[in-house]
Amino acid sequence: MKHHRAHLLVCAGTGCVSCGAFDVKTALKKEIERRGLADEILVVATGCNGFCEKGPIVLVRPDDIFYQRLSVDDIPLLVEEHLIKGRPVARLMYTPPADTKPVPKMADIEFFRHQRLIVLRNRGRIDPEKIEEYIAYDGYQAMAKALTEMTPEEIIAEISASGLRGRGGAGFPTGKKWDLCRKEKASPKYLICNGDEGDPGAFMDRSVLEADPHAVLEGMVIAARAISAARGFIYIRNEYPLAIQRLDIAIRSAREFGLLGENILGSGFDFDVEIVRGAGAFVSGEETALIASIEGQRAAPRQRPPYPAQSGLWGQPTTINNVETWANVPSIIRRGAAWFAGLGTETSKGTKVFSLVGKINNTGLVEVPMGIRLDEIVNNIGGGIPNGRKFKAVQIGGPSGGCIPTELLDLPVDYESLTRAGAMMGSGGMIVMDEDTCMVDIALYFLRFTQEESCGKCAPCRIGTRRMAEILAGIAAGEGRPGDIEKLEELAWTVKRGSLCGLGQTAPNPVLSTLRYFRDEYRAHIEDKTCPARVCKNLISFAIDPEKCVGCLLCLKACPVNAIAGERKKVHVIDQALCIKCGACFTACPVKIGAVSKLTGEKGRALVPEATRATTS
Ligand SMILES: Cc1cc2nc3c(=O)[nH]c(=O)nc-3n(C[C@H](O)[C@H](O)[C@H](O)COP(=O)(O)O)c2cc1C
Ligand code: SF4
Ligand code: SF4
Ligand code: SF4
Ligand code: FES
Repeated sequence: MKHHRAHLLVCAGTGCVSCGAFDVKTALKKEIERRGLADEILVVATGCNGFCEKGPIVLVRPDDIFYQRLSVDDIPLLVEEHLIKGRPVARLMYTPPADTKPVPKMADIEFFRHQRLIVLRNRGRIDPEKIEEYIAYDGYQAMAKALTEMTPEEIIAEISASGLRGRGGAGFPTGKKWDLCRKEKASPKYLICNGDEGDPGAFMDRSVLEADPHAVLEGMVIAARAISAARGFIYIRNEYPLAIQRLDIAIRSAREFGLLGENILGSGFDFDVEIVRGAGAFVSGEETALIASIEGQRAAPRQRPPYPAQSGLWGQPTTINNVETWANVPSIIRRGAAWFAGLGTETSKGTKVFSLVGKINNTGLVEVPMGIRLDEIVNNIGGGIPNGRKFKAVQIGGPSGGCIPTELLDLPVDYESLTRAGAMMGSGGMIVMDEDTCMVDIALYFLRFTQEESCGKCAPCRIGTRRMAEILAGIAAGEGRPGDIEKLEELAWTVKRGSLCGLGQTAPNPVLSTLRYFRDEYRAHIEDKTCPARVCKNLISFAIDPEKCVGCLLCLKACPVNAIAGERKKVHVIDQALCIKCGACFTACPVKIGAVSKLTGEKGRALVPEATRATTS
């Protein structure tokens, strides 16, 4: 292999690609060639680095310098200064929100410093389209071990001893699931990788498939040997074209290298996989619905038992696991169950990948050891809340998760603690909310999502979620009545207990958890007709403080419906009858002036007659 003095690792995950990573890569290659450095410096496209919000990202190895938010125009300077003169460019580095000094090295950046990588271990460091790079970092070693040195029982015993639990939501012990399938007599048996990932805001599975597709394939071959399956399916939603493309390349190269297909590594074991594209409905991710979808039917869940391990795809024993679960398997087999079980808590082992989004400084993909305190994720890795606002809650577990409030920031992140707190691990979505978030509005948002995604097969879910959404919408609109909270709670428990699948059984969680921690906010909407976070449109109004307004015209220009009257250097006023409460004036008024205020529980001031309008200078 040829040696290069530097490697430029250009992140080519979906996030960075959408903000121009391929243009940056082309510009880098061109500039490097123009400067005659092509023999010395290699440009590599990698999978998602995790810090997507800072894209396009380039990591310079071996210096470990992390460049972010690059544009094509930055490239000549970067090549000239860093690669020719050896002077890294501070201006293009990451600077923490509360600081003015950049942090040059990736390993020193808070976002990366507290993470522990198993599933994402190859992120940003290998080209996912080159099987050689995966192999160079111990890839397929675990598979070789499983195929040549271990019996199926030993593989399952190792996975069971590691304590690995499913990362797709329910947290079922993986070894136990495989064992149930292995013990079934019927043949053939099948394997499925669940890459549906329907939670809004979640992109963990997509990133794993884009950044390290071979890890998933390797995990599947190991399980195939354990349960004696010869065919596997990887179900990915069609909205993930890059993940599909990279996985397709990975499957083809693994076949060429004799690592997939017939007689793998000359061991006499045959196993192959194919990709199935899903149309992208949330309910398709539920395992029995997903199986129906692969069979060519409508993706509707069915009653369990029988579980897929007993009767799955085409009625045959089937093992279905999540993308992240599969990606954990090679490391466990290679490094041993004890190593994996040494990480995490008593009942939640290993790490978990979260997509950290919302009102947080550092949004992106993070992998942390189980048991880490929520506070560490929000404040250390996430860098706290932007614009000096206060933390209010974090929604964990996607649309069927729950909101954890400030008082519980010390909570350890593991399956049991999250469930006790009224949330759930789910697939790993984490949405951070600040003080400007209304919890009634949030509960309504998630409930509307699950209601729209309900397949309609069973009445409690189909009708119950609709009724709950109607009551919530009424409360948010200021039309809530005494007794609504109790009605919501009763309905929530009926939907939970009476629904056929996990969608209905968990859909009320956002409502129940916000009622548990933010009941006063619901009461304020119903009893006082106020929205304490000043979000619900029917309960707020905007007003201009005549003492503060300097007549700069900014709000007037921003107003989309001409509801603001005013002249230069004269106090402006809002016509409440015309105002659609979009908030553009509030945003437009300079912070240091702060003349526009959001009110709740009182109407904005009436129009000030022209004659009494003060001149401001
Ligand atoms: C409505 C609904 C949506 C789901 N979506 C997904 C999904 O997108 N990905 C996933 O892996 N599991 C999803 N699940 C969980 C699967 O049914 C199943 O438990 C999981 O794929 C098993 O893999 P694991 O044991 O590795 O977690 C969903 C469940 C429900 C009820
Ligand atoms: S709970 Fe909802 S999504 Fe699940 S089967 Fe019933 S109607 Fe369909
Ligand atoms: S809230 Fe929107 S519509 Fe109302 S006055 Fe301000 S800019 Fe105009
Ligand atoms: S932006 Fe603020 S200061 Fe300027 S005219 Fe509007 S209310 Fe007055
Ligand atoms: S896509 Fe580049 S960091 Fe995620």
